[in-house]
Amino acid sequence: MYNEKVIDHFQNPRNAGEMFDPSGVGEVGNMKCGDIMKIFIKVENDRIEDISFLTFGCGAAIASSSMLTELVKGKTLDEAMKITNMDVANHLGGLPEAKLHCSNLAADALHKAIEDYRSKVQ
Ligand code: FES
Repeated sequence: MYNEKVIDHFQNPRNAGEMFDPSGVGEVGNMKCGDIMKIFIKVENDRIEDISFLTFGCGAAIASSSMLTELVKGKTLDEAMKITNMDVANHLGGLPEAKLHCSNLAADALHKAIEDYRSKVQ
């Protein structure tokens, strides 16, 4: 059901784990499947210097979190806000239709983490 890239990110997730003293945290869940994703970001000079995740969910959700962290590391907050779930799914080489909501979680959790950071510094 999953392509090789998705399986690789699922089996060898990049940047997995909780972050000590993050600048912002975003947490989202999906009511239907019950999966939960938490994204931690460390921001310096308006850039995402570091990012990590904790995901309790399916393989696609874990692969999406992992890919997301690779995609946004080093990006400015404005650039990161433009990342969509389709960007995440496309970089994974595509996800099955029924699993597209899993990549949604990743984009939404990232955006929430950025909003959390911005609400603290304003
Ligand atoms: Fe819900 Fe994957 S099945 S996040």
